[in-house]
Amino acid sequence: MGKKKVIAETGAGQHGVALATAAALVGLECDIYMGEVDIAKEYPNVVRMQILGATVIPATHGLKTLKEAVDTAFENYMKDPITQFYAIGSVVGPHPFPRMVRDFQSIVGVEAKEQFLQKHGKLPDNLVACVGGGSNALGLFTAFINDESVFMHGVEPAGRNLDTLGEHAATMTKGKPGVMHGFKSYMLQDDAGEPAPVHSIASGLDYPSVGPQHSYLKDIGRVNYASISDDEAIEAFFELSRLEGIIPAIESAHALAYATKLAAKEGVGTILVNLSGRGDKDIDFVVEHYGEQYGIPKN
Ligand SMILES: Cc1ncc(COP(=O)(O)O)c(C=O)c1O
Repeated sequence: MGKKKVIAETGAGQHGVALATAAALVGLECDIYMGEVDIAKEYPNVVRMQILGATVIPATHGLKTLKEAVDTAFENYMKDPITQFYAIGSVVGPHPFPRMVRDFQSIVGVEAKEQFLQKHGKLPDNLVACVGGGSNALGLFTAFINDESVFMHGVEPAGRNLDTLGEHAATMTKGKPGVMHGFKSYMLQDDAGEPAPVHSIASGLDYPSVGPQHSYLKDIGRVNYASISDDEAIEAFFELSRLEGIIPAIESAHALAYATKLAAKEGVGTILVNLSGRGDKDIDFVVEHYGEQYGIPKN
């Protein structure tokens, strides 16, 4: 395609690390746009990207998190769409980005289905995945979309308070149709129809809109969308770490917390949870803010 540079936005830094890795492998330049707040919060991933040779460019306006990283990436992409390629990090943006990202991510569901069938000899009764922009969820759901017996649950961040705009990022639960970043979907918005401020403890989930296919799946009733608070996610973060020896990303911990609630209900059957990322990137932040509460002595 004649491109010299790949660019992307990143929230928690996972997509940035993935793209920087690929760019290093094939010898392309790589610029990653990341909110200034997330740069501080997810610092281990920033260093990873820099070690891999990528340039991390801070987004310094607004809340300085994921939405602003996407704003800045698009702004710079439009300055030079000929030599740069924008590898967007979720199922958002104008067509064909949502379809491309969904199709690439769908390997997750194809492999999960195969593994679950091998292990249990039947399909799972439930799928659970966290939803920021919605790519890991669609990656899992797509392989099961025509399997009507499989219930699907998308888990959004309820943040600190689901009833106050600005304190959560539960787009599907609290948003209404709106346009941003070149696509129409459920969106958290102010009275003027502009994207509202959002909050989530998970840097990858605090986005005021969601991939348009999720809005469709909600409207046709194929997927149930629920929400999990910051504190519930942290509890699940420690629970998986201490029960299974797996430290999950705080994003993924939202899915785990919801799965735990679901499992407590009678007759729900089997549950397949998408563990969308590992939590190494989160440990400094978690220990600083929640360490004492979970029995970790202060250094
Ligand atoms: C580990 C992890 N899970 C989930 C997400 C949310 O993105 P998406 O909803 O597109 O899967 C992110 C975003 O940064 C992430 O880092």
